[in-house]
This record gives sequence, structure tokens and C-alpha cells, in this order.
Amino acid sequence: MSGGALQTDFMTLTRFVLEEQRRFPSATGELTQLLNALLTAIKAVSSAVRKAGIAKLYGIAGSTNTTGDEQKKLDVLANDLFINSLRSSFTTCALISEENETLIEVEVEQRGKYVVAFDPLDGSSNIDCLVSIGSIFGIWKMETNAAPTDKDVLQSGRKMIAAGYALYGSACMVVLSAGNSVNGFMLDPAIGEFILTERNIRIKPRGKIYSINEGYTELWDEEIKEYVNAKKTSTEGRAAYGSRYIGSMVADMHRTLVYGGIFLYPAHKKSPKGKLRLFYEANPMAYIVEKAGGMATTGKEAILDVQPTNIHQRVPVIMGSTEDVKDFLAVVEKHKK
Ligand code: AHM
Ligand code: MG
Repeated sequence: MSGGALQTDFMTLTRFVLEEQRRFPSATGELTQLLNALLTAIKAVSSAVRKAGIAKLYGIAGSTNTTGDEQKKLDVLANDLFINSLRSSFTTCALISEENETLIEVEVEQRGKYVVAFDPLDGSSNIDCLVSIGSIFGIWKMETNAAPTDKDVLQSGRKMIAAGYALYGSACMVVLSAGNSVNGFMLDPAIGEFILTERNIRIKPRGKIYSINEGYTELWDEEIKEYVNAKKTSTEGRAAYGSRYIGSMVADMHRTLVYGGIFLYPAHKKSPKGKLRLFYEANPMAYIVEKAGGMATTGKEAILDVQPTNIHQRVPVIMGSTEDVKDFLAVVEKHKK
């Protein structure tokens, strides 16, 4: 293409998924339809995030969500957008949302074969100060057409068939993997399409950044203290790591994916299971990280292998560059002895 000429042949996210799916003769197009519904919700959330102040979306909506956090108006709006868009896509049978205490069952006449777990707007503490926030989603395929129960949807992350996130940062980007590579798509607001900009994202084997809320230091187990201390201490062979912590998992993990390094939200004395939720925070991110060549663990097992017992359960999260996560696991191993 000559400089300045208009682009006329975009690789949009939909086109990319359609091309990927063509390789599977049994593909029906239902997943593409589902992803389109997700993209519609994401575009609407992105637009709401950008004009949130003008639209008077700030402030507390007057209710709390299932885990006791204050729900902001923008969270409620994002949740409604995700639920309405997914329900009317005719591709889902049940939805799990951070904002809904129980499993959302899709009416029989609108039912499809997929279960989607999502956090419609993650990083709620960053909404009012205009720091990056995001949406996270994971997709499972059901084995039967019967109305799914909690028990049916309690499958490990290993069984996901696609996962991703949207980052509402200085630009809006969707990062997605449907089982193969991880790819990044930037929203072009002029045409309202997500365009492939980062093909086959691979996470560096080792990074130079650690990311954890150090305000909890006195609550950490000894192994976390030792690991973090080692990261900020230079040795003969290696400089000390830099520290970055935004407090929005999507933003912290996107940076980890792009620059390398490690993100930790471990269990601590006041939060013995950690804070982050398995279904719609830990699993989708772990899926992306593993598909990009990194590692994601609870400290005891791979996040994707955790057998869930509850749709809102929490897990400790340690993920990022493989060598960094292995260093962490070596410290855990040492403390077992
Ligand atoms: P949220 O779902 O209420 O937004 O909470 C999840 C967020 C994550 O994005 C982030 O990694 C974490 O909470 C930050 O928690 P903390 O403020 O304890 O460091
Ligand atoms: Mg969340």
C-alpha cells in the first residue's frame, strides 16, 4: 500500500475468526456469532467508558455485587450490555457474571450450546479516576442441550474453547485466543471495527517487572515475602526488577503479556483464597498466558487445572513469563521442606 492511501482490505476480528474456523469442517459459525455478540457489548462498553463523565455514569448505583464490592453505575450498564447481547445471540445456554449471584439461564427459545463466564467491567476501583479498566471472558461448550445447572458448568479452565479480554486503555484492544495463537485487535473508532494489529503474541521467557499490591506485605506468607524481596534485590548476574501495579487485572496482565514479567495476586492472611475469581478473571487470563507461551499457577497447580466447586470461587493467581513463574514455584518448593 502506498503511503497515505486508504486501507481497503482490513483483517477484522470477525474475518480472522471466520478464517480460523474454516479449518474445522464441523464448525457451524456459532462461535463466530457468539464472538460478534461479545464485540458488540465491548464496543458499547468502550463508548460508555469514554463518555462516562458526560453521561453521569459515575457514582454508586446503590447496590452491592455478589462478593460485597460496591457496584458502580458503569458496572451495571456493562453487565446489562453483556447479558442482553449474549442472550440474543442464540448461541448461549447459560452465563456466569461477576455481578450476578446465580447462574443466568438463557430461555429455551434463545438457547445455544455455549456457556460464557465474564467480568463485564473489571478494575472497579479505577473507574472514577480514569485509569484503565477491562472486560474478561471465557467460553465453554456444553456436552448436552439440557438446561445447564451449576454442576454442568463447573468445568476446569482446561476445557475452555476460547477466552480473551478487552482493555479500555489509551486505546481499546481485544486480545483473543480461540485455541490456537493469541492475537490482538485494536478498535478503530472511525469504522467501529476491531482490526488485527498484534499477530501471534508471545510472552517473553523472562521479564524485568514484578506486579503485586505491596500494601499487603505484612499479610503475605513467607514464600511471597521472600520471592518479592528477591525481585527487588540486584545480584551479581541480574539487576533488580522494576515494579508496576495498576490495580486493574486486565491492564496489569496486558502489560505482562507485552513486556514480560510476573503478576501476582496471592492468598494472604485476610484473604486466604486470594481475591481474584476463577471463572471470569483467573481462567481466561491463564488461558491467554498459556497460549502465548507463559505459565499461570495458583502456587499448587496450574490455574487451568483447578476443578471448580463454585461459580464465584476465588484462587491465588501467579502468572506471566515462564522463567519468572518457575522461579516463584522454586521458592514455594523450598518452603515446603
Ligand atoms: P473488581 O472485580 O472488583 O474490579 O476486583 C478485581 C481487581 C483486579 O482487576 C485487580 O487485579 C485487583 O482487583 C486489585 O485488587 P487490590 O486493590 O486488592 O490490589
Ligand atoms: Mg473483577
